[in-house]
Amino acid sequence: MKYLIDILTEEVRGAFASAGLDRNYGKVSVSNRPDLCEFQCNGAMAAAKKEKKNPLEIAENIAGALKSNDKFSSVEAVKPGFLNLKVSEEFLLSCLKDMDGKEKCGADEDNAKRKIMIDYGGPNVAKPLHIGHLRSAIIGEAVKRMGRFMGHDVTGDIHMGDWGLQMGLIIAELRERKPDLPYFDPAHTGDYPSEAPFTLSELEEIYPAASAKSKEDEGFKDKAMEETFKLQNGDKGNLAIWHKIMELSVADLKKNYRKLNVDFDLWKGESDADPYIRPMVERFKNEGYAYESQGALVIDVSEETDAKEIPPCMVLKSDGAALYTTTDLATLVEREKDYAPDQVIYVVDKRQSLHFTQVFRAAKKTGIVPKETSLDFLGFGTMNGRDGKPFKTREGGVMRLEVLINDVCEEMYKKMKDNDGISLSEEEMRDTAEIIALSAIKYGDLSNQASKDYVFDIDKFTSFEGNTGPYIMYTMVRIKSILRKYEEKYGDSDIDSFEMRSAGTPEEKSLMLTLSSFGNMMKSAFDELAPHRICAYIYELSNEFNRFYHETRIIAEEDKERREGWIALLIFTLKIFEYAIDVLGMKAPERM
Ligand code: ARG
Repeated sequence: MKYLIDILTEEVRGAFASAGLDRNYGKVSVSNRPDLCEFQCNGAMAAAKKEKKNPLEIAENIAGALKSNDKFSSVEAVKPGFLNLKVSEEFLLSCLKDMDGKEKCGADEDNAKRKIMIDYGGPNVAKPLHIGHLRSAIIGEAVKRMGRFMGHDVTGDIHMGDWGLQMGLIIAELRERKPDLPYFDPAHTGDYPSEAPFTLSELEEIYPAASAKSKEDEGFKDKAMEETFKLQNGDKGNLAIWHKIMELSVADLKKNYRKLNVDFDLWKGESDADPYIRPMVERFKNEGYAYESQGALVIDVSEETDAKEIPPCMVLKSDGAALYTTTDLATLVEREKDYAPDQVIYVVDKRQSLHFTQVFRAAKKTGIVPKETSLDFLGFGTMNGRDGKPFKTREGGVMRLEVLINDVCEEMYKKMKDNDGISLSEEEMRDTAEIIALSAIKYGDLSNQASKDYVFDIDKFTSFEGNTGPYIMYTMVRIKSILRKYEEKYGDSDIDSFEMRSAGTPEEKSLMLTLSSFGNMMKSAFDELAPHRICAYIYELSNEFNRFYHETRIIAEEDKERREGWIALLIFTLKIFEYAIDVLGMKAPERM
């Protein structure tokens, strides 16, 4: 299905071609002067330059050719050579009806489908989930859903940090505390106990204690490194402890991500890449990609055109240990073997940008992934507190995600109570506050361009006014409430069979125009990996809808056809909202 703006472009191109000019001058864009027109084309200016003609004359010529075109209600040539366009109500209506009749409003119909892998979340096992992992989860989930919406075959992988020093720290600490555990008995044979040697809360206490100790006590740090080495080299006892840590941690992670409405297809981690490391490194050596530098094994990844020097990519440390780059390269080996994706998107803190530049270049250079595969780094900025510094607890510590979510739920609940227009039961109020709180957190994050830092302002994010999640929810709930009232007043008429009608008022047309751009907005939002564009769209849609609502007496309208046409428009608007917020990983309540 062609998007409305593309159909208009085709028409204007046709007019340029008939005038003996290059059809590519006919590109139509959304007007940046909405007070004057809905769409515009600036091609006459470029054409005039090329042909050494008067731009206004060309524009007038094109306008003349489009005069009788029924897709436009007005085509004007204005100085110095712009074409100001308005779409006809009938054509706009027919586009909306086409969209309405199609799954996903036809947004993905003509889109070329790719196999895509998204690496997001990236929590480190055994450390409690903190707000540093919030952005990756929220943005990654949105990007995954956006890709699916556009018809791509998308797999989301959590890529846990589950193979590093933090594991050795826990094991070393456990050995000191409970040396008699069978895991530490080299003479132990057979199975290890099925019960874990710690509870989740013990585990969450062990890690920070061990981490603090390793900073003061060199000897302890060496022990932790040795435990890590043993683990990575197949020590049975350490592996058994590792499995227990994973069991507890992963169950807890799953619970937390569920609360965020984030879900992964693959629960893989750095440890899964381990078996691929040795053969990969061997190949690097044999094929001459890797060489020794100060004892370490490295691959050159600099390119002539680099403005800043890109240091070599290290694949083995001087002690022979693998590093973060090594597991990321080996993970690509595994992904290539299991999925052979056309694209891999990494949603990670932008401070890791150099790491990914090195990994991507090394992967291409050594042929781990084919040249055509696109490896994309979607680096995000920091979530700051109101003081402009990275978000912390009041005591200055790292805030746990759970705590943050609960705080926002509490604040949302308070605001709803103060604002209580309709009477919700205590239980429904709590549930609803939770749903809206999630929209407040997610929208607050996603509405910013991912690469920018942003300020987590709980007061602003939970406000029902302005560019916020709760405002979007409020608008959607308003539509739901009008539909309910309509059904109450007019009995059980089959409102889903009502048909939209041609726009009768400017507000209605404006709303319809915004609705018509849904498909191309979704397509470019995904192509640019830009969830903030969807937020901007639903914010505009909310404003358009609310303007229409304030100018239109929908339920009280006496003309049955007009009234039913509006109800159909409301239902369609709600459908577009639902698609958009689902893609952002949000839900709307029934009432609020
Ligand atoms: N665990 C890492 C961290 O906390 C993030 C992992 C990102 N993904 C990747 N393939 N490197 O920094």
